Amino acid sequence: MKITIVGAGAMGCLFAAYLSKSKQEIWLLDKDKFNAAKLNQQGIFLEGVSGNWRAKVNSTADAGLIGKSDLVIICVKSYHTRSAITSAKPLLAAGSKVLTLQNGLGNIEAISEVVGSESVIGGVTSEGATLLDIGKIRHAGRGDTVIGRIDSRSSAGMSGIREIFNKVGLNLKISRDIKSLLWSKLIINVGINALTAITGLKNGKLIDYEGTRRILRGAVTEATRIAKRKRIKLIYDDPLAKVEAVCEATAGNVSSMLQDVGRRKSTEIDFINGVIVRLGQELGIPVPVNSLLTDLVKTIESTYHLT
Ligand code: PAF
Repeated sequence: MKITIVGAGAMGCLFAAYLSKSKQEIWLLDKDKFNAAKLNQQGIFLEGVSGNWRAKVNSTADAGLIGKSDLVIICVKSYHTRSAITSAKPLLAAGSKVLTLQNGLGNIEAISEVVGSESVIGGVTSEGATLLDIGKIRHAGRGDTVIGRIDSRSSAGMSGIREIFNKVGLNLKISRDIKSLLWSKLIINVGINALTAITGLKNGKLIDYEGTRRILRGAVTEATRIAKRKRIKLIYDDPLAKVEAVCEATAGNVSSMLQDVGRRKSTEIDFINGVIVRLGQELGIPVPVNSLLTDLVKTIESTYHLT
């Protein structure tokens, strides 16, 4: 199987490094020529829960060089999904599948608009990774990766993916209800990401302070109300307890949004708390905490140039 991972951020590098241990042909596509060349030369260095190791990868900024791939895994930030899938078009042949392992909501829809929904597989991952430098990552925590079709259509093609992932030590499961998984992950990101980006705290610290704990609870409660109205069944019974448990389990993590703010990059706020704000307006459900978090993160983004 030829597999191309699009996006050489923390997650893209993590999956590329692991999948390079398989017997498949693995490529990493990054739009930045300099990054792609460096990765091709030096490979990917990993440290953290999986030890210190280096993986050799084929990397390029030119999709034409890779050619048709059986599986394309999208690991770019959600605001780059559309441009990433458009630039990945040369990789797609009849029967190619596109798997999104991104945070937030809206990626499946954006990819489907370009390639057709029958080719798209959704996914969520609880692997934790921090980008330290180009091609240098810390594997911060292990977790499951769960994939599935948004329309619960046949799971054809997915067991092959599961086999490849599992063989290289990545725990991958197949779900019949990916929507529920996407929302269950969204609610975790709603509680953690913006609040860490604003306060500069690591995940675990959010529950150590009364103020952040209260805000976290407010954001999660609002998002849960929206999920309920939309009749989304979450994979856990108690969302507040779950998000706090994730804070504990990933206590030392620098959330992806805090990493973005630290690097003065755009964040995925529109695809996380911003989604709750939009849906709240649509459904007439008040979401003041998510509005505030969204406004604050957007303010931080627009003042990067001042500091
Ligand atoms: O975006 C992230 O950082 C992660 O999804 C999570 C679960 C919040 C852990 O850091």
